[in-house]
Amino acid sequence: MDKQRLEEVARAIVQTGKGILAADESSPTIKKRFDSIGVESTEANRRAYRELLFTTEGAEAFISGVILFDETLRQSSEQGTPFPRLLAEKGIIPGIKVDKGAKALAGFAGEKVTEGLDGLRERLAEYRELGAQFAKWRAVITIGDGIPTRFCLEANAHALARYAALCQEAGIVPIVEPEVLMDGGHDIARCRDVTAETLKRVYSALFEHCVYLEGTLLKPNMVISGKACPQQAGPEEVAAATVACFRQVVPAAVPGIVFLSGGQSSQQATENLNAMNAMGPQPWELSFSYGRALQADTLKAWKGQRANAAAAQRAFYHRAKCNGAARKGAYSRAMEEAA
Ligand code: 13P
Repeated sequence: MDKQRLEEVARAIVQTGKGILAADESSPTIKKRFDSIGVESTEANRRAYRELLFTTEGAEAFISGVILFDETLRQSSEQGTPFPRLLAEKGIIPGIKVDKGAKALAGFAGEKVTEGLDGLRERLAEYRELGAQFAKWRAVITIGDGIPTRFCLEANAHALARYAALCQEAGIVPIVEPEVLMDGGHDIARCRDVTAETLKRVYSALFEHCVYLEGTLLKPNMVISGKACPQQAGPEEVAAATVACFRQVVPAAVPGIVFLSGGQSSQQATENLNAMNAMGPQPWELSFSYGRALQADTLKAWKGQRANAAAAQRAFYHRAKCNGAARKGAYSRAMEEAA
């Protein structure tokens, strides 16, 4: 294992003022996003949309890495440049989603476990050849009546740790993503408790599997009110609760925490990240790895029309810039109005 190289890549991803674009929607998920704007999910449309994102001029000032889906890693720009090379030429690090999705956990109603370990060593070797320098595996934890169970947390932590160890063996930085979903009427305290319990088990599994933490990144949910909770915590409360929770359970050896947006509005996701960074330095960098919160406005502006490409790229650039500012606690509402 080239520990030094792993650490260098992890640190480059969480460098000041930059974060990750998660553009790794699986085929069913990108279909959902395209359905929302009335665009058919064909290979050509998916390619065109991803090209639009990746060629947005200047976005590399705020985007350090992009997570791709298997199909996208193998696609090229209209001019014939493979996407991983196109990104690398802009100084953006290409990454790859390697899990095969969260499936129902047999015997545990309402809970899921992520699949994809079989054959992963071989797939990682190929992804590395294709230019991926980091990877992502997402575990899904649902809050509900009597769940998550300890068994579900352990099953997911175990899979995350096996994935992370395989990535490092292949010279790929693993992004470890245990997502506690926002769905439900639970309050922020319950989210904090479940998030802390989840992360304790994840780090305990990572230790047992001899994962080199300096060469990993964590991609978690923020500690936040459930979507249907009548009492919605604002940015200061979310920031304080998230940082306090993570300080208890995330080792300082981890270079960075790259939050997912998880269904927050674009602006909410930016405001919450900004509030955390405004609290001052922490043991790890606090950054973003947003899918929806970076792309929602872009999709709406694009609508599948080539004529809308420039407007769509402006929308993407704007959100990337706002989140780049939030990395330093320097975001303000005025940035939205100025745009
Ligand atoms: P969202 O930011 O839309 O939650 O997506 C991030 C991601 O990659 C989830 O796995």
